[in-house]
Amino acid sequence: MADLRVNVAGVEFKNPVIPASGAFGYGREYEQFYPLSKLGGISVKGTTLHERQGNPGPRIAETPAGMLNSVGLQNGGVDKFLNYELPSLMTKGTRIIANIAGSTVEECAELAGRLNGSAVDMIELNISCPNVKQGGAAFGTDCTIAGQVTRAVKDATDKPLMVKLSPNVTSITDIAKSVEANGADAVSLINTILAMRIDIKTRRPILKNNVGGLSGPAVFPIAVRMVWQVANAVNIPVVGMGGISTFEDAIEMMMAGASAIQIGAAIFSNPYAPIEIIDGMNKWCDQNGVKSISEIVGTVNPF
Ligand SMILES: Cc1cc2nc3c(=O)[nH]c(=O)nc-3n(C[C@H](O)[C@H](O)[C@H](O)COP(=O)(O)O)c2cc1C
Repeated sequence: MADLRVNVAGVEFKNPVIPASGAFGYGREYEQFYPLSKLGGISVKGTTLHERQGNPGPRIAETPAGMLNSVGLQNGGVDKFLNYELPSLMTKGTRIIANIAGSTVEECAELAGRLNGSAVDMIELNISCPNVKQGGAAFGTDCTIAGQVTRAVKDATDKPLMVKLSPNVTSITDIAKSVEANGADAVSLINTILAMRIDIKTRRPILKNNVGGLSGPAVFPIAVRMVWQVANAVNIPVVGMGGISTFEDAIEMMMAGASAIQIGAAIFSNPYAPIEIIDGMNKWCDQNGVKSISEIVGTVNPF
């Protein structure tokens, strides 16, 4: 059996496989399939300062090789997370990553401060959400704002901080360098890609929100490209995601430069995907003489 342990920003994960935020809730529904202790960690549903109902439906649509979503960060707010979800999550024997989102820099910093005294292992700051004080553009689409929100959150917490990047940008490496310069301990990518479908019978968008985020196998090559570019541009660890559904995808993403990987959309069609990926990775390592999975990180040989 290979050593699957990986270290991301000082946090040791027993294996590199982490269900992605929004795809696994708080894990409750999946415990009927396997013990959550098998997972490297869980990035839990995005938490905001106050409860949010999310967007009206339809807010999920299937597409060839992927899905669109416009859930809109439905969650119970940070108090409910701290008092109700987290105590139970901490008994599961896996790393817990709190994924946070706010509509202003101050709100993001306040959230990080609220989580500081908690037992979470790491904070993942989602910068793909609109910044209401700057005309609604996502924090993650502007180097200066991405840097500012990272700095404010870093100053509010002692927890390792991973900043989750938006792919809806021209140069993802510029954003990655800006968050690194402002204190990010790691980056994760990619969040969903802005997309749209139209029902040709009604001539209306399929999602009530008109547009939504595309994820699933359709986005995998884009995610590999971005992870590879970012891993070569920064000196902090990169956690890769976007379209991973098999162990081969996970190995490819790690060769591109990811120290660990997250799995989102694949879990909706196959709840066992994370476990199958861990088992497949283990066998692959044994068959390929790889003693420790971290040996393969960033080993792609570019032309
Ligand atoms: C239904 C749904 C809800 C999501 N909610 C969140 C969220 O709350 N916070 C976040 O940072 N990302 C969220 N994401 C993005 C995923 O964590 C992930 O970055 C993205 O889906 C790409 O990975 P995938 O192709 O494996 O799904 C969500 C994705 C889906 C499909």
